[in-house]
Amino acid sequence: MLSYRHAFHAGNHADILKHLAWLGVITHLKRKAKPFVLFDTHAGAGEYPLNSDFSQQNKEYLSGMTPLQGVTAHSSLLNQYLHVNQPIWQENIYPGSPRLLCQAIRAQDKAHLMELHPAEIDSLQYCVSSHGEGQVAVHHRDGLQGLIAMTPPTPNRGAVLIDPPYEQIQEYDQVSDTVKKVLRRWANAQIVVWYPLLSERAETKAHACQTMIETIADAGKSCFTAQLTVAENTYDAGMFGSGVCVINPAFQLDENLTDAMGEVCGFLGAQAEYSLQWRKKDN
Ligand SMILES: C[S@@+](CC[C@H](N)C(=O)[O-])C[C@H]1O[C@@H](n2cnc3c(N)ncnc32)[C@H](O)[C@@H]1O
Repeated sequence: MLSYRHAFHAGNHADILKHLAWLGVITHLKRKAKPFVLFDTHAGAGEYPLNSDFSQQNKEYLSGMTPLQGVTAHSSLLNQYLHVNQPIWQENIYPGSPRLLCQAIRAQDKAHLMELHPAEIDSLQYCVSSHGEGQVAVHHRDGLQGLIAMTPPTPNRGAVLIDPPYEQIQEYDQVSDTVKKVLRRWANAQIVVWYPLLSERAETKAHACQTMIETIADAGKSCFTAQLTVAENTYDAGMFGSGVCVINPAFQLDENLTDAMGEVCGFLGAQAEYSLQWRKKDN
Protein backbone atom coordinates (compact mmCIF):
# COMPACT_ATOMS: atom_id res chain seq x y z
CA MET A 1 0.00 0.00 0.00
CA LEU A 2 3.04 2.29 -0.11
CA SER A 3 2.18 4.21 -3.28
CA TYR A 4 2.75 7.76 -2.01
CA ARG A 5 5.91 9.52 -3.26
CA HIS A 6 6.58 12.93 -1.79
CA ALA A 7 8.62 14.01 -4.84
CA PHE A 8 5.32 14.73 -6.62
CA HIS A 9 4.53 17.37 -4.00
CA ALA A 10 7.94 18.62 -2.82
CA GLY A 11 8.14 22.36 -2.26
CA ASN A 12 4.40 23.00 -2.47
CA HIS A 13 2.51 25.39 -0.15
CA ALA A 14 1.96 22.61 2.40
CA ASP A 15 5.69 21.93 2.65
CA ILE A 16 6.38 25.61 3.34
CA LEU A 17 3.95 25.72 6.30
CA LYS A 18 5.13 22.36 7.68
CA HIS A 19 8.83 23.15 7.38
CA LEU A 20 8.48 26.64 8.86
CA ALA A 21 6.66 25.16 11.86
CA TRP A 22 9.29 22.41 12.25
CA LEU A 23 12.18 24.87 11.97
CA GLY A 24 10.42 27.12 14.51
CA VAL A 25 10.21 24.23 16.99
CA ILE A 26 13.88 23.29 16.51
CA THR A 27 14.97 26.92 16.81
CA HIS A 28 13.21 27.29 20.16
CA LEU A 29 14.90 24.13 21.45
CA LYS A 30 18.29 25.55 20.41
CA ARG A 31 17.85 28.59 22.65
CA LYS A 32 19.27 26.47 25.48
CA ALA A 33 22.62 24.67 25.21
CA LYS A 34 21.06 21.54 26.78
CA PRO A 35 20.86 18.68 24.26
CA PHE A 36 17.56 17.51 22.75
CA VAL A 37 16.22 14.58 20.73
CA LEU A 38 14.15 14.89 17.52
CA PHE A 39 11.93 12.29 15.82
CA ASP A 40 10.66 12.45 12.22
CA THR A 41 8.17 9.57 11.88
CA HIS A 42 7.58 9.84 8.10
CA ALA A 43 10.86 11.23 6.85
CA GLY A 44 10.54 10.66 3.08
CA ALA A 45 13.54 10.80 0.75
CA GLY A 46 15.29 13.64 2.59
CA GLU A 47 15.61 16.02 -0.36
CA TYR A 48 14.05 16.30 -3.81
CA PRO A 49 15.73 17.23 -7.12
CA LEU A 50 13.10 19.34 -8.85
CA ASN A 51 14.13 18.22 -12.33
CA SER A 52 12.94 14.66 -11.59
CA ASP A 53 10.01 13.21 -13.58
CA PHE A 54 8.02 13.08 -10.32
CA SER A 55 8.44 16.78 -9.52
CA GLN A 56 8.01 17.85 -13.11
CA GLN A 57 4.65 16.06 -13.46
CA ASN A 58 2.60 18.71 -11.62
CA LYS A 59 5.34 21.22 -10.72
CA GLU A 60 3.78 21.69 -7.29
CA TYR A 61 6.82 23.66 -6.10
CA LEU A 62 5.37 26.55 -8.12
CA SER A 63 2.73 26.96 -5.39
CA GLY A 64 5.21 27.29 -2.52
CA MET A 65 8.94 27.43 -3.09
CA THR A 66 9.10 29.34 -6.37
CA PRO A 67 7.31 32.51 -5.16
CA LEU A 68 9.70 32.64 -2.18
CA GLN A 69 12.87 32.38 -4.25
CA GLY A 70 15.00 35.50 -4.02
CA VAL A 71 12.70 37.35 -1.62
CA THR A 72 13.88 39.20 1.48
CA ALA A 73 12.09 38.46 4.74
CA HIS A 74 11.47 40.68 7.74
CA SER A 75 10.20 38.13 10.26
CA SER A 76 12.94 36.27 12.05
CA LEU A 77 11.62 32.73 11.40
CA LEU A 78 11.07 33.26 7.66
CA ASN A 79 14.44 34.97 7.40
CA GLN A 80 16.10 31.99 9.03
CA TYR A 81 14.17 29.52 6.85
CA LEU A 82 15.21 31.36 3.68
CA HIS A 83 18.82 31.59 4.86
CA VAL A 84 18.97 27.78 5.13
CA ASN A 85 16.90 27.04 2.03
CA GLN A 86 17.85 29.63 -0.62
CA PRO A 87 21.31 28.15 -1.38
CA ILE A 88 19.77 24.66 -1.74
CA TRP A 89 16.90 25.94 -3.89
CA GLN A 90 19.49 27.51 -6.18
CA GLU A 91 20.72 23.97 -6.91
CA ASN A 92 17.14 23.12 -7.98
CA ILE A 93 16.70 20.89 -4.94
CA TYR A 94 13.92 21.15 -2.37
CA PRO A 95 15.15 20.11 1.10
CA GLY A 96 12.66 17.90 2.95
CA SER A 97 12.32 17.72 6.71
CA PRO A 98 15.43 15.45 7.09
CA ARG A 99 17.78 17.77 5.24
CA LEU A 100 16.38 20.73 7.18
CA LEU A 101 16.98 18.81 10.41
CA CYS A 102 20.55 17.89 9.39
CA GLN A 103 21.29 21.60 8.80
CA ALA A 104 19.74 22.67 12.12
CA ILE A 105 20.88 20.03 14.61
CA ARG A 106 23.92 20.59 16.83
CA ALA A 107 26.71 18.19 17.87
CA GLN A 108 25.12 17.60 21.28
CA ASP A 109 21.64 16.73 19.88
CA LYS A 110 20.27 13.46 18.47
CA ALA A 111 17.66 12.57 15.88
CA HIS A 112 15.75 9.49 14.73
CA LEU A 113 14.31 9.51 11.20
CA MET A 114 11.86 6.78 10.19
CA GLU A 115 10.68 5.79 6.73
CA LEU A 116 8.93 2.64 5.46
CA HIS A 117 9.12 2.91 1.65
CA PRO A 118 11.91 0.69 0.26
CA ALA A 119 12.88 3.23 -2.45
CA GLU A 120 12.70 6.30 -0.21
CA ILE A 121 14.81 4.73 2.55
CA ASP A 122 17.86 4.49 0.22
CA SER A 123 17.58 8.16 -0.75
CA LEU A 124 17.09 9.09 2.90
CA GLN A 125 20.22 7.17 3.96
CA TYR A 126 22.17 8.92 1.21
CA CYS A 127 20.85 12.36 2.22
CA VAL A 128 21.73 11.82 5.89
CA SER A 129 25.18 10.42 5.12
CA SER A 130 25.86 13.43 2.85
CA HIS A 131 24.51 16.16 5.11
CA GLY A 132 24.17 14.73 8.61
CA GLU A 133 26.58 13.80 11.34
CA GLY A 134 26.70 10.59 13.35
CA GLN A 135 23.99 11.78 15.72
CA VAL A 136 21.22 11.36 13.07
CA ALA A 137 19.94 7.76 12.90
CA VAL A 138 17.81 6.40 10.05
CA HIS A 139 15.33 3.57 10.74
CA HIS A 140 13.59 1.51 8.05
CA ARG A 141 10.38 0.89 10.01
CA ASP A 142 6.83 2.02 10.71
CA GLY A 143 7.14 5.56 12.06
CA LEU A 144 4.31 5.57 14.58
CA GLN A 145 5.31 2.23 16.08
CA GLY A 146 8.93 3.36 16.11
CA LEU A 147 8.04 6.57 17.91
CA ILE A 148 6.24 4.71 20.69
CA ALA A 149 9.12 2.24 20.98
CA MET A 150 11.77 4.97 21.27
CA THR A 151 10.01 7.33 23.68
CA PRO A 152 10.57 8.79 26.18
CA PRO A 153 14.07 9.58 24.94
CA THR A 154 17.11 10.47 27.02
CA PRO A 155 17.39 13.40 27.50
CA ASN A 156 13.65 14.03 27.52
CA ARG A 157 13.82 17.50 25.87
CA GLY A 158 12.79 17.24 22.29
CA ALA A 159 10.24 17.26 19.53
CA VAL A 160 8.44 15.09 16.98
CA LEU A 161 7.30 15.69 13.40
CA ILE A 162 4.41 13.44 12.27
CA ASP A 163 3.83 13.82 8.55
CA PRO A 164 1.98 10.80 7.12
CA PRO A 165 0.61 10.55 3.56
CA TYR A 166 -3.00 10.05 4.86
CA GLU A 167 -3.72 7.83 1.87
CA GLN A 168 -5.83 5.63 4.08
CA ILE A 169 -8.57 7.06 6.33
CA GLN A 170 -7.39 5.06 9.35
CA GLU A 171 -4.13 7.02 9.41
CA TYR A 172 -5.96 9.93 11.10
CA ASP A 173 -6.98 7.74 14.05
CA GLN A 174 -3.56 6.10 14.15
CA VAL A 175 -1.96 9.55 14.51
CA SER A 176 -4.25 10.72 17.33
CA ASP A 177 -3.87 7.37 19.17
CA THR A 178 -0.09 7.61 18.86
CA VAL A 179 0.01 11.23 20.07
CA LYS A 180 -2.02 10.27 23.16
CA LYS A 181 0.24 7.28 23.89
CA VAL A 182 3.41 9.35 23.45
CA LEU A 183 2.13 12.12 25.75
CA ARG A 184 1.41 9.57 28.47
CA ARG A 185 5.06 8.45 28.32
CA TRP A 186 6.68 11.77 27.42
CA ALA A 187 4.48 14.57 28.79
CA ASN A 188 6.64 17.50 27.62
CA ALA A 189 7.14 16.33 24.01
CA GLN A 190 6.60 19.09 21.48
CA ILE A 191 4.73 17.45 18.60
CA VAL A 192 3.98 18.83 15.14
CA VAL A 193 1.26 16.93 13.24
CA TRP A 194 0.75 17.95 9.62
CA TYR A 195 -2.66 17.34 7.95
CA PRO A 196 -4.27 18.16 4.58
CA LEU A 197 -7.39 20.30 4.15
CA LEU A 198 -9.52 18.42 1.64
CA SER A 199 -12.70 19.45 -0.16
CA GLU A 200 -15.99 17.49 -0.02
CA ARG A 201 -14.92 15.43 -3.04
CA ALA A 202 -12.72 13.51 -0.61
CA GLU A 203 -15.91 12.37 1.22
CA THR A 204 -15.20 11.12 4.76
CA LYS A 205 -11.55 12.18 4.50
CA ALA A 206 -12.71 15.81 4.15
CA HIS A 207 -13.65 15.86 7.85
CA ALA A 208 -11.20 13.35 9.29
CA CYS A 209 -8.67 15.97 10.30
CA GLN A 210 -11.27 17.74 12.52
CA THR A 211 -11.89 14.56 14.51
CA MET A 212 -8.15 13.97 14.76
CA ILE A 213 -7.53 17.49 16.10
CA GLU A 214 -10.37 17.24 18.64
CA THR A 215 -9.02 13.90 19.89
CA ILE A 216 -5.52 15.36 20.20
CA ALA A 217 -6.85 18.43 22.09
CA ASP A 218 -8.74 16.08 24.45
CA ALA A 219 -5.36 14.69 25.55
CA GLY A 220 -5.20 17.82 27.73
CA LYS A 221 -1.98 19.45 26.56
CA SER A 222 -1.88 22.97 25.19
CA CYS A 223 -2.06 22.97 21.41
CA PHE A 224 -2.81 25.20 18.46
CA THR A 225 -3.57 24.64 14.80
CA ALA A 226 -2.07 26.84 12.09
CA GLN A 227 -3.61 26.59 8.64
CA LEU A 228 -2.70 27.88 5.20
CA THR A 229 -5.32 27.84 2.44
CA VAL A 230 -4.46 28.67 -1.16
CA ALA A 231 -7.81 28.16 -2.90
CA GLU A 232 -11.51 28.39 -2.22
CA ASN A 233 -13.02 25.29 -0.61
CA THR A 234 -15.30 24.26 -3.48
CA TYR A 235 -16.49 20.65 -3.94
CA ASP A 236 -13.82 19.84 -6.54
CA ALA A 237 -10.95 21.86 -5.04
CA GLY A 238 -9.08 18.78 -3.76
CA MET A 239 -6.36 19.79 -1.31
CA PHE A 240 -7.11 23.49 -0.90
CA GLY A 241 -4.67 23.96 1.97
CA SER A 242 -3.14 22.25 4.96
CA GLY A 243 -2.50 22.67 8.64
CA VAL A 244 -0.19 21.80 11.46
CA CYS A 245 -1.34 20.95 14.95
CA VAL A 246 1.42 21.86 17.41
CA ILE A 247 1.19 20.24 20.83
CA ASN A 248 3.10 21.69 23.81
CA PRO A 249 4.30 24.60 21.65
CA ALA A 250 7.26 26.62 22.87
CA PHE A 251 6.65 30.13 24.21
CA GLN A 252 5.91 32.58 21.34
CA LEU A 253 6.05 29.92 18.61
CA ASP A 254 2.49 30.96 17.72
CA GLU A 255 3.59 34.57 17.22
CA ASN A 256 6.77 33.68 15.33
CA LEU A 257 4.90 31.36 12.98
CA THR A 258 2.14 33.90 12.43
CA ASP A 259 4.64 36.63 11.53
CA ALA A 260 6.41 34.31 9.09
CA MET A 261 3.23 32.96 7.50
CA GLY A 262 1.74 36.43 7.18
CA GLU A 263 4.72 37.36 5.04
CA VAL A 264 4.56 34.07 3.11
CA CYS A 265 0.91 34.74 2.20
CA GLY A 266 1.95 38.06 0.69
CA PHE A 267 4.22 36.18 -1.71
CA LEU A 268 1.86 33.28 -2.51
CA GLY A 269 -0.88 35.40 -4.07
CA ALA A 270 -4.30 36.87 -3.40
CA GLN A 271 -6.00 33.60 -2.46
CA ALA A 272 -3.48 32.61 0.20
CA GLU A 273 -4.84 32.92 3.74
CA TYR A 274 -3.36 31.94 7.08
CA SER A 275 -5.02 31.48 10.45
CA LEU A 276 -3.97 30.21 13.86
CA GLN A 277 -6.36 28.89 16.47
CA TRP A 278 -5.59 27.75 20.01
CA ARG A 279 -7.42 24.44 20.62
CA LYS A 280 -6.33 24.22 24.26
CA LYS A 281 -4.32 26.81 26.12
CA ASP A 282 -2.75 26.64 29.58
CA ASN A 283 -3.54 29.71 31.65
C1 LIG B 1 4.54 13.34 3.35
S1 LIG B 1 5.85 12.25 3.09
C2 LIG B 1 7.09 12.81 4.19
C3 LIG B 1 7.75 14.09 3.82
C4 LIG B 1 8.80 14.56 4.80
N1 LIG B 1 8.31 14.52 6.18
C5 LIG B 1 9.23 15.98 4.50
O1 LIG B 1 8.65 16.91 5.06
O2 LIG B 1 10.15 16.15 3.71
C6 LIG B 1 5.29 10.79 3.90
C7 LIG B 1 6.30 9.65 3.87
O3 LIG B 1 5.82 8.64 4.77
C8 LIG B 1 6.22 7.39 4.26
N2 LIG B 1 5.40 6.38 4.96
C9 LIG B 1 4.18 5.90 4.64
N3 LIG B 1 3.73 5.07 5.58
C10 LIG B 1 4.69 5.04 6.55
C11 LIG B 1 4.81 4.40 7.81
N4 LIG B 1 3.83 3.59 8.27
N5 LIG B 1 5.92 4.60 8.54
C12 LIG B 1 6.92 5.41 8.08
N6 LIG B 1 6.87 6.05 6.90
C13 LIG B 1 5.78 5.86 6.14
C14 LIG B 1 6.01 7.52 2.79
O4 LIG B 1 6.80 6.57 2.08
C15 LIG B 1 6.47 8.96 2.54
O5 LIG B 1 7.82 8.99 2.18
